[in-house]
Amino acid sequence: MLAIQTNPQSAALAIDVGFGYTKAVSLAGGKVIFPSVVAPAGSPDAFDRLDKSDTGYRVRIKKGIDGPVEEWLVGELALKEGREVQYFQDWEKHSHPAHDAVLLAAAALTWNWPRAGGGITGISNPALVVGLPVDVWRDELQREGLKKHLEGLIAEVSVNGNGPVRVTFSRVYIYPQAAGAFLTVPDLPESGIVALVDVGQKTTDSAAIEIVNGRQRLVKTMCFSINKGMAALVEAVREEFRRQTGAPLPPQQAWETVKSGSLWYRGKEIDMAPAINKARAEIARAIADQVLAGWGERADFVRKVYLAGGGVLDLPALQNMFPAAAVLPDPQWANALGFLKVARGLAG
Ligand SMILES: Nc1ncnc2c1ncn2[C@@H]1O[C@H](COP(=O)(O)OP(=O)(O)OP(=O)(O)O)[C@@H](O)[C@H]1O
Ligand SMILES: [Mg+2]
Repeated sequence: MLAIQTNPQSAALAIDVGFGYTKAVSLAGGKVIFPSVVAPAGSPDAFDRLDKSDTGYRVRIKKGIDGPVEEWLVGELALKEGREVQYFQDWEKHSHPAHDAVLLAAAALTWNWPRAGGGITGISNPALVVGLPVDVWRDELQREGLKKHLEGLIAEVSVNGNGPVRVTFSRVYIYPQAAGAFLTVPDLPESGIVALVDVGQKTTDSAAIEIVNGRQRLVKTMCFSINKGMAALVEAVREEFRRQTGAPLPPQQAWETVKSGSLWYRGKEIDMAPAINKARAEIARAIADQVLAGWGERADFVRKVYLAGGGVLDLPALQNMFPAAAVLPDPQWANALGFLKVARGLAG
């Protein structure tokens, strides 16, 4: 159980709903990460039959005052048990119906919410900060649409059979990815252009600031998203498998093969390590080339490049492809931790 949170100044929650993983962290001490995958829970008894020791979450959601009850498997459990597994595929992932299920599950797990139907309890609802890829964030309609939607969100949420809690946010702010991660950089120089590259599952975001006499200014032309991330590695594995066997490889197995380096097919072990290593090198090169091209002639004048996002853990070669590159501590958490700083400012 999380500590009761009574100080409104620290009523802050940050959720980074990535294409690959949802990361949530709050000032009440909650922290959670799970794959951004959901599946409808199916019949209610299938929902109840699931083993409590399974990782992942069974989530019941009732939106509004008297909305219908939705039941979802979220995270690893959806991958394992779900029949109609849903990933976010759209560029505008927040318009996907599964987005709220993931976000509400993360919120329920990281904040000490009042019990549903419990009346006024003195517990503060937190301010919420979430992110969008830089290019989606630029689109005011998208940004404001998401903000309005989350501001209006009120739901009773029950995770893994626990008593339902009432989730609603006191304030909502939408922040650009990469710029969020920037807020966690521990050692910004006094002057010069510094950039941050956030390599995610499906997108890579770039942000840059120019520092003059300790004052920061966003370099807008260096802030953008490119449509490439670690999902390309899974695609490369599927392509190689098809080349070797002629058969399709389901995405989930391809994902596991990326981690293990090999798989068994019709009694034979197929070594995927060479194909994976080649794909890693190619993807790192492609990401670096596209980002550097986006920076244009400013690329040569960047003083330091910070690398964030879970993808940089899988692509160590990136460090040699950018000038003076350094991987942030906890790179996969960088956006969420940056958003939490913004949320704390809103709450106070
Ligand atoms: N422990 C780990 N070691 C190595 N790589 C990891 C680890 N955990 C995650 N990754 C990598 O991180 C990637 C996901 O990164 P991240 O969580 O930053 O993406 P995302 O934010 O979900 O995606 P996007 O930003 O595109 O929406 C995975 O595809 C995997 O390659
Ligand atoms: Mg991300």
